Amino acid sequence: MIPSYVTGRPTGKETGDYLALDLGGTNLRVCLVTLKGNGSHEIEQAKFKVEDSLKTGDMVDLCDFIASSVDAFLQERPHLTGKHLELAYTFSFPILQTAINRGTLKQWTKGFSCKNAVEKDVAILLQEALSRRGLPVHIAAIVNDTVGTLLAHAYRHPETAMGVIMGTGSNACYYEKIDKIQKWTRPENIEDDEMVVNMEWGAFDNERRVLPMTQYDNKLNRESRNVHQQLYEKMVAGMYLGEIARNAMISLIDHMLLFSGESSPSMNTQWAFETAYLTQIECDTSKDLSRTRDILENTMGIPLTTLADRQIVKHVCGFVGRRAARLVACGLSGVLSHCGQIGQPTVVAIDGSLFEKYSHFEAYTREAMEEMFGQASVEKIRFDHAKDGSGLGAAIIAMIADQHHLSA
Ligand code: GLC
Repeated sequence: MIPSYVTGRPTGKETGDYLALDLGGTNLRVCLVTLKGNGSHEIEQAKFKVEDSLKTGDMVDLCDFIASSVDAFLQERPHLTGKHLELAYTFSFPILQTAINRGTLKQWTKGFSCKNAVEKDVAILLQEALSRRGLPVHIAAIVNDTVGTLLAHAYRHPETAMGVIMGTGSNACYYEKIDKIQKWTRPENIEDDEMVVNMEWGAFDNERRVLPMTQYDNKLNRESRNVHQQLYEKMVAGMYLGEIARNAMISLIDHMLLFSGESSPSMNTQWAFETAYLTQIECDTSKDLSRTRDILENTMGIPLTTLADRQIVKHVCGFVGRRAARLVACGLSGVLSHCGQIGQPTVVAIDGSLFEKYSHFEAYTREAMEEMFGQASVEKIRFDHAKDGSGLGAAIIAMIADQHHLSA
């Protein structure tokens, strides 16, 4: 549970030009966000691919790459040359924040493992790289993607209670009463009574006490880059679901229950069964499961599949996906109960590729919440697909930091 230093709710009246950066997955995104003050905004953006070697190399090289991408973005926009700009840095990893624009990296997640970054202040490292290139850009805020998602949605829907990411990783944030936050003492100049808390819920139950982990989860965990970390995330997020299903299929193959006991080099390769395949197979409604056959035979290289094999695989994918949605329902329910929101009209802002592309996800989540609270209560909860937390949401946070002189 990490205080985000973001207090109060946006009003929609915010104005100004802000830069926003988003690092957290395959791409680095650089945006120029213009807040227009009437609840509307404009965004210009560019994407830069983050090569695998940068994700596992030295942090200085990653920061220099980010600074060079910002430089390239600004050079294409001569009207910004030499202009002082405030920047929001969406850095979607567990950061122990000490100010709105200061914080140390606790650990890497989602396959990143750069050296010389853990326990360091990632804003200072990037600010130094920006200075090395002589860019007049000041990092006003470090933003978790969940917090950006919440703020972006609350800009137009003030009743939004939570920001959730269901993508490569999974995490959530929510508005907490400042009096209840023990890790932070309110300074005199802050009058708001709420602060957004970044839960880092992916790390829930790292002690392995309550999550019902299977042998397939244990194998994934053992073989991962961050053993015994992010255990809840490893059961629910897009980076992992395909791999859990692959582990289950391998076990069925070994028991001669699938593909007549035959596997393939791809089926035996870690991460080769992508979560996108799992969602496509679950949504395959053709009579002979032809899309499933295509994935198994042509993509995964299984020599021959029977209809029964394909039906089994479809069940496995369904079990893994539905379990993920039901476990996320537990996380959402815990937070909404804590905030007294069950039975009240509530909006949960959700972003991320898994939520976007897995059409059954929301229905499974609702189904589990209805089992806990009844249909009438759950009907009052709206799941909105909230786009652009790391652009609009982050820019709003940079503006709050800038106008209230919060940043160091
Ligand atoms: C991981 C990160 C977290 C982020 C989430 C979604 O769980 O630790 O900070 O919010 O992924 O991207």
